[in-house]
Amino acid sequence: MGDSPAQVAVVTGAAGGIGRAVVCLLLARGYAVVAEDISRKVHELATSAPGTVVALEADVRLTESAQDAVGLAIRTFGRLDLLVNNAGLFLKPAASRAAAISRHPIGRILGPAEVAEAIVFLASPAASAITGAILSVDGGYVAR
Ligand SMILES: NC(=O)c1ccc[n+]([C@@H]2O[C@H](COP(=O)([O-])OP(=O)(O)OC[C@H]3O[C@@H](n4cnc5c(N)ncnc54)[C@H](O)[C@@H]3O)[C@@H](O)[C@H]2O)c1
Repeated sequence: MGDSPAQVAVVTGAAGGIGRAVVCLLLARGYAVVAEDISRKVHELATSAPGTVVALEADVRLTESAQDAVGLAIRTFGRLDLLVNNAGLFLKPAASRAAAISRHPIGRILGPAEVAEAIVFLASPAASAITGAILSVDGGYVAR
């Protein structure tokens, strides 16, 4: 698939929300990406960035999906440097938007791109001395 990219990532839950924002930011930073999601919408990413994104429609709860993602990265791009294990079950409690905002000291709900920035920072050389740290990216929700 052309010249080998500098870095290769697997991003799970890549079709929407934070995962999609991570894929877009990684592409902007020169990564090639295996985008995995249970939704067929993940194929839209590969269509929008042919040659630098390959889509894997799979369920992360199945062991073979991890093997398939690693295999796809190696076969397509020749290496694997980063796993963003983003897909997960997240049950958003029923609450009004105003109530949700009031629980965030910054006065608003975070956007996916803000979370993506933190993820990509932690994977970057700029974070080379950070190990085993927990970084809250929640607009002060937990600390309030
Ligand atoms: N958004 C938030 O406020 C928030 C807060 C805390 C934690 N999180 C966590 O961040 C992650 C992403 O959140 P989001 O808001 O972008 O969610 P989202 O629902 O917008 O996107 C999640 C993506 O994961 C995919 N997915 C779901 N189950 C999957 C499975 N079994 N296999 C493969 N793909 C699957 C969905 O199809 C979807 O594209 C989740 O793990 C969530 O628990 C989000």
